[in-house]
Amino acid sequence: MLNAPAAERNKDPILAVLRECVDTRKPLQALEISSGTGQHVAHFAQALRHITWQPSEFDHQSLASIEAYRTHYHLDSVKPPIHLDASLPCENWGSIQPESLDLVVNINMIHISPIACTEGLFKGAGQILKPQGILLTYGPYAVNGQITPESNVNFDYSLRQRNPEWGLRDISLLSCMAQKSGLFLEKVVDMPANNKCLLFRKESLV
Ligand SMILES: C[S@@+](CC[C@H](N)C(=O)[O-])C[C@H]1O[C@@H](n2cnc3c(N)ncnc32)[C@H](O)[C@@H]1O
Repeated sequence: MLNAPAAERNKDPILAVLRECVDTRKPLQALEISSGTGQHVAHFAQALRHITWQPSEFDHQSLASIEAYRTHYHLDSVKPPIHLDASLPCENWGSIQPESLDLVVNINMIHISPIACTEGLFKGAGQILKPQGILLTYGPYAVNGQITPESNVNFDYSLRQRNPEWGLRDISLLSCMAQKSGLFLEKVVDMPANNKCLLFRKESLV
């Protein structure tokens, strides 16, 4: 069971946003993309018992950690984690069926992966979400071409030093990408430590 201090800090504020945006009256199906250690899915599953969670990861060591959380806490509503590369078409995302999910959650991946992962995230979410389903992303973002405050400017610089394909993305760019996949930015929620939650809703065809 790996432990990421940032996940420990942000899991409750993100849970509060989830509580506000998900329907609590009926059973729901959720996919977490880039589950990391498994701390988030373990926390959310214990708090939101009506949601069945499918955790996923690109990194194999993280997959083992997610499974360790799942068994340690006897999380019946969490499925065994699957290997998922967000940059690939969603036909490669295990056996997830089109329009089968109510919720997709993606925490702190968009700025720490090549843009192809973000493109794949929106394309895939557009296909696997039911109409009116929600994609929640969390992390630091640029707004109208500006990164604030100074600590996020420095963070963006350090990410780009580590990998030129990484870095904070602009919310307007994400909103455009999402729209191409039928997802509309419904809400931006300011979060602690200069992060935000972005809530995208899949357009209903009716
Ligand atoms: C900063 S970590 C965030 C992990 C976790 N969501 C959290 O907040 O603690 C970034 C995650 O993105 C994942 N990632 C990198 N490339 C990916 C890809 N192509 N598809 C899916 N996830 C990827 C990494 O394995 C890593 O777990």
